[in-house]
Amino acid sequence: MKEIDALALLGAFLGCLAPVSGHAGDAKAGRQKITTCQACHGLDGLSKNPEAPNLAGQIEGYLIKSLGEYKSGARQNETMNIVAKELSDQDMADVAAYYASIQVDVLPP
Ligand code: HEC
Repeated sequence: MKEIDALALLGAFLGCLAPVSGHAGDAKAGRQKITTCQACHGLDGLSKNPEAPNLAGQIEGYLIKSLGEYKSGARQNETMNIVAKELSDQDMADVAAYYASIQVDVLPP
C-alpha cells in the first residue's frame, strides 16, 4: 500500500471516532467549568469526598451519558441531579473531555 493511501485510511478512521452528537468536547473549556465540581471530584479528578467517585481518566462517553441521565432524572442522586440541571449539552461535553483527558497510572496490586 502506498503511504498516501495509508494516511487517507487513517484519516477516515479518525473521522469515525469523532463524537456523533455534534458537541465536540473541549478539555480546556471544560477545565474552566468545573469550579463547582472540584469540591467533591477534585481539580485533578481524584475525589476529595468519600461519597463522590473519581472522574480522572474516565471514559468520555460514559461521563456524558451519566451527566445526561442525572439531568433528565433517569439516574437519581440528590446532589448530582441539582448540579447537572445547570449544565448545557456543551458544558457536559467539555467537562467530560477535561476529566477524560487526565492521564492516570494504574498499578495493579
Ligand atoms: C457536593 C458534591 C458533588 C459535587 C459538587 C459534584 N458532584 Fe458529581 N458526584 C457526587 C456524588 C456523591 C456522586 C455519586 C452519585 C451516585 O451515586 O450516583 C457523583 C457522581 C458523578 C458522576 C458519575 C460518575 C460515575 O462513575 O458514574 C459524574 C460524571 C459526576 N458526578 C460529574 C460531576 C460534575 C461534572 C460536577 C460539576 C459540574 C459534579 N459532579 C459536582 C458528588 C458531587
